[in-house]
Amino acid sequence: MTSFNNEKEPLTGADIPFIPTLSSTFPIEADIKNKPEEYAEFQKLPGYAFDPETVNRSKHTLDFTKPISKHGWSEKLVLITGGCNGIGRKTVVDLAQLGATVVVGDIAKDGEDVVAQMREESGSDKIHFHRCDVTDYDAQIALFEFAQTIGSVTSVVVNAGVSELHKFLPPFTTQPSDPSAPPTKPNLQTLDVNINGAVYTIQLALHYLRLPGVFNQDRSITILGSVSSFLHMPRAPLYSASKHAIKAIFTELILMPFDKAHPIRINFVAPYFVGTKILPPTVIILLAGRPLTKVETVAETIVRLVDDGSGAVDADGKRIGGVRGRAFACCPEGVVKEVEVMEWGVSEAFSKRVISLLNFAAHCAGKEKLEIAKEVAGYVWSLVWPAKS
Ligand SMILES: NC(=O)c1ccc[n+]([C@@H]2O[C@H](COP(=O)([O-])OP(=O)(O)OC[C@H]3O[C@@H](n4cnc5c(N)ncnc54)[C@H](O)[C@@H]3O)[C@@H](O)[C@H]2O)c1
Repeated sequence: MTSFNNEKEPLTGADIPFIPTLSSTFPIEADIKNKPEEYAEFQKLPGYAFDPETVNRSKHTLDFTKPISKHGWSEKLVLITGGCNGIGRKTVVDLAQLGATVVVGDIAKDGEDVVAQMREESGSDKIHFHRCDVTDYDAQIALFEFAQTIGSVTSVVVNAGVSELHKFLPPFTTQPSDPSAPPTKPNLQTLDVNINGAVYTIQLALHYLRLPGVFNQDRSITILGSVSSFLHMPRAPLYSASKHAIKAIFTELILMPFDKAHPIRINFVAPYFVGTKILPPTVIILLAGRPLTKVETVAETIVRLVDDGSGAVDADGKRIGGVRGRAFACCPEGVVKEVEVMEWGVSEAFSKRVISLLNFAAHCAGKEKLEIAKEVAGYVWSLVWPAKS
């Protein structure tokens, strides 16, 4: 039987070989740097070609002081889920006004009418609607196939979402309503839409964005999380769980080595409360008098991420391509803050080794068998006999 003794001293670097540091949410480099022994231990880990540039994350980030580029939009075909309301709707209008073609996949019954209104608002007839329930994988395939009949999808915005639709925690009491009967099975629709639906969209995006029609074009996936991907949200455990989960999936995606043949930029947007239909009336009452995030702020962040960043240049004026692997919290009063989801320098030992292995595989790709064998031997040797620092 496991016992829990909270009087015991917490584990230290001396107890375990490598401190499993949190590789998510907030920077912890300062913490570990203050513990020289652990830091030295960590630095001895083989970091074969471990470099943030080889994983799916750019060194540069969004620059909100620059106007959004007016160029290149006519070549973009953006597929967005949940584009008939709120954040998605504003994003669709903004993208269409810039000249992009937009395909909206939404479960909304009045989707055709909403799209007709959005065409009028934006002055663009390049907005298309395909009804789709994101929890149905075949329906999402049909959505992507529909988009491919219009052009080649270049950008995907994973936006469809619902709030806490069904309660699995009893309200204000821990007592079961009927002590003689077990509770009913929880309804997991919130997880179904916000996790499974989003995973289906990402899976299909990673396929369609690698099709020949978009070679040599900027390609991106923008994922809608929430501040509840990082913080707690009282009385919305399933919503909060779904948004934590999608952040975890984003983090996994950007850990992959950057594929130069298919440079798909993947970014994450985490809004604070926005006054859309997703907010139940009780939440709106509880937020009365507090500033909310504007739908315009979130839509602008998404549009900037869909933009290919062709204007971005380094100090020497060399083109550095678009932003990737970045997460942005959209706050009230038009403030957008970057959120650190991965502390690259002090990623935990397991992640570091996995990344180093993936990078190593990418490094060996295309080499002769004998050369690979030599490289593998060297790599394994570096794992069992880390270089002394
Ligand atoms: N509004 C906020 O306070 C807030 C805060 C943080 C994150 N977000 C996230 O932003 C995204 C957009 O939310 P919003 O505020 O615009 O909400 P919204 O309710 O205004 O719009 C959501 C859209 O998703 C569609 N949708 C819902 N279920 C679907 C399904 N099964 N298949 C296809 N489409 C479906 C709806 O029809 C609707 O058009 C969501 O992922 C949400 O979790 C919103």
